[in-house]
Amino acid sequence: MKALILSGGKGTRLRPITHTGAKQLVPVANKPILFYAIEAIRDAGITDIGIVVGDTHEEIKAAVGTGEKFGVKVTYIHQEAPLGLAHAVKIAEPFLKDDQFVMFLGDNLIKDGITSLVEAYKKSGANCQILLAKVPNPQDFGVAVLEGGRAVKLVEKPKDPPSDLALVGVYMFDHHIFEAVNAIKPSARGELEITDAIQYLIDHGYRVESHLVTGWWKDTGNLEAMLEANRLILDTLETNIEGEVDAESQIAGRVSIGKGTKIIQSSIRGPVIIGEDCHIENAFIGPYTSINNRVTIIASEVEHSIILENCTILNIGARLEDSLLGKNVKIERNGRKPRAYRMMLGDNSAVGVI
Ligand code: TTP
Repeated sequence: MKALILSGGKGTRLRPITHTGAKQLVPVANKPILFYAIEAIRDAGITDIGIVVGDTHEEIKAAVGTGEKFGVKVTYIHQEAPLGLAHAVKIAEPFLKDDQFVMFLGDNLIKDGITSLVEAYKKSGANCQILLAKVPNPQDFGVAVLEGGRAVKLVEKPKDPPSDLALVGVYMFDHHIFEAVNAIKPSARGELEITDAIQYLIDHGYRVESHLVTGWWKDTGNLEAMLEANRLILDTLETNIEGEVDAESQIAGRVSIGKGTKIIQSSIRGPVIIGEDCHIENAFIGPYTSINNRVTIIASEVEHSIILENCTILNIGARLEDSLLGKNVKIERNGRKPRAYRMMLGDNSAVGVI
C-alpha cells in the first residue's frame, strides 16, 4: 500500500501566513502539521509516500527531504495549479499505479492515527473507504448522506447540508479511483472534486465504506482550527526543561523549554511549549501557547497562541491572545508621542485592537 499526501492548495483561509509559506508547515506544538501526517502514515506501516506540492514546493522539500529522517521514502509530485483534490489524485497515477493507497490532506490532524483504519480497509475488500465525523458546521466540508451505514450521496460544501457528517481528510482507494477522476468534470468553483469522484464510484456500483471517527480530528485550514489543534496536541505535552529558568520565575503545569532558552523573572503556566534560544523576561506565558525558536518576549503576556520563529514581543502592556504570528514578526510598544498604532501589515492581515 502507498500513501498520497496533499500539500499544494491555495490556503486562502490562512492568509497572510500562506502568502509567504506553506500552511502544512505551520507548527502545532512546535512541529509542522505535515510531519504528524507523515508519522501517522509511517506508523500504519506505509513507507512509500507521494507528496503533492504546488507553489510552496521548495519549502516543503527543504523541510521533509527524502523522508529518510521519518523512515519513509518520499516522491514529490508537482501540481501545476490547485485544481482540486481529485486533480491531485489524477496527476499522481504514475506514482500510485495499481496499488491501494491512503490519501491524507496535509493540513489535517487525526488524534488516534490511521493504523486501525488502514487495517480495516485492507481487510474489507472495498474499493474506497471514507472517514466521517459529526461537525457543527457541515456547510464548510464535504458532507455524506448514509443509508443503513453505506454512503449514498456526497456533496461538497453544501449551502443546505443534508447531514452533519463531514468527510475527514483521510481517504482510502484502490485503482478504480482513476476511472472516476478521469470521468468527472470540474465543479462550479473550477475544481475536480473528490466528492464527485467518490459519488462516481457509488453510482457505478463500486463499494464505498464509511467509518465514523470517534477521537478528535482537525482540518487546520483556518486560524480557529489551527489554535484548537494546538490546544489538543499541547494537552498531551510532557514536561521537559532543557533551558535555564531563574529563581524568580514560576513554572506551573506541563511545560517544555528548549535548549539555550532563558526564562527570567517570568511566569509560565502550562501546557506551554517554548523552543530553543528564546529570551523570555518579565513575561507571563499562559496555557496553550506554542513559542518557536529564537523568540524574544519581554514585559508582555501571551496566551493561547502560536508564535513562529524569530518573533519579538516587547512591552505590549496587554495580553496577546488567540493569535498566530508568522516568522520574524515584531510587536512593540514604544513611548513615542503621539500615542498611536503604527503597523506594517501584509495583505489580508487581521489585527484585533482593544
Ligand atoms: P483545502 O484546505 O481544501 O484547500 P486550500 O489549501 O486551497 O485552502 P483554502 O480553502 O483556504 O483556499 O485543501 C486541503 C489540502 O489539500 C491542503 O493540504 C491543500 C491540498 N490541496 C492540494 O494539494 N491540491 C489542490 O488542488 C487542493 C484544492 C488542495
